Amino acid sequence: MSSYQPVPADRFTFGLWTVGWRGVNTFGDPVRPALDPVDAVRRLADLGAHGITFHDDDLIPPGSSDTEREDILKRFRAALDETGLKVPMATTNLFSDPVFRDGGFTSNSRDVRRYAIRKVIRNIELAVSLGAETYVCWGGMDGAETEAGKNDHAALDRLREAFDILCGYVREQGHDLRFALEPKPNEPRGDILLPTVGHALAFINELEHPEMVGVNPEVGHEQMAGLNFAHGVAQALWAGKLFHIDLNGQRGIKYDQDLRFGSGDVKEAFFLVDLLESAGYDGPLHFDFKTPRTEDMSGVWESAAACMRNYLILKEKARAFRADPEVVESLAASRVPELSQSTLGEGESLSDLLAEEIDLAEVGERGYHFERLDQLAMEHLFGLR
Ligand code: GCO
Ligand code: MN
Ligand code: MN
Repeated sequence: MSSYQPVPADRFTFGLWTVGWRGVNTFGDPVRPALDPVDAVRRLADLGAHGITFHDDDLIPPGSSDTEREDILKRFRAALDETGLKVPMATTNLFSDPVFRDGGFTSNSRDVRRYAIRKVIRNIELAVSLGAETYVCWGGMDGAETEAGKNDHAALDRLREAFDILCGYVREQGHDLRFALEPKPNEPRGDILLPTVGHALAFINELEHPEMVGVNPEVGHEQMAGLNFAHGVAQALWAGKLFHIDLNGQRGIKYDQDLRFGSGDVKEAFFLVDLLESAGYDGPLHFDFKTPRTEDMSGVWESAAACMRNYLILKEKARAFRADPEVVESLAASRVPELSQSTLGEGESLSDLLAEEIDLAEVGERGYHFERLDQLAMEHLFGLR
């Protein structure tokens, strides 16, 4: 039995804004003190994480002078060196400042859109200097509450323009950096552009450099739209676009809960881990969670440790599920391997297929035994097998 003790090789990473979330929400004031980024680095390293990520403003408070910025970065870099923690990803805050009240890349105001691009480029330089290979873009304010106030066609044009500019910049600088778009259906805007993984994948194909852009799906965001997260991730993997992932928990269609990974829909978490592990996803396993306001700082670290522990538990369970001979037999009885066979055989032509006959009565009676298979998965999850 494993101790479920994470190590850096597990590739677990955390946003500075996750463990640093002070519990402020629409109705409540902050309940926890501000967290020094250096303490976040040390605590996460002690817990066995591999890396830390940040929005520009999480690390460098807006309004800092150049010397203040240099001092913060010096301390931060020293903490990274001392602990060995990495920065595999960074992102930009294009939502907190009042100027972004109508969005960043798609604000109706042209001056805001131009400022948003400058803000991203400034932080890309910092990200690259810290070794980041992925740059996440979550356009939480890029959306609308009223149809009349936003020309969606123009907004998509501007969004494409922003990514074409940013990809061009990264290529020109010769940086080894890829972008990952993070879909979300709503919150803070009533409706956000690129609400789901599917919308984001379709958008990417319209870019000048689609190869430089992938997705950063978040568990809770697809579930807020009532979608099956594992299916969304499977399609991103199928398209070669799973550049990054935000792991957390959510209970159904409601506000974005950002629960610790494994809580919320446990069964979907199990099948997600099963998918990531069997597909050989080798990018960061990034936790984007918020510890509930009920907790003090000790609860924050409990919750962060539990994200990693739950992943490792589910990984062991998924492995046992796949190795169980009864599961293997049950998969065959459900014809799961048969779906991997091409529909036309090698050397066959369409006329062979057209000439074939099927016994509709007999095949129509065929049961697929998915219930048995699903119950086996649940019994693994319950710890009965
Ligand atoms: C959310 C989002 C954000 C983004 C992050 C990156 O919960 O709505 O996940 O946390 O991931 O801001 O820009
Ligand atoms: Mn979220
Ligand atoms: Mn996220």
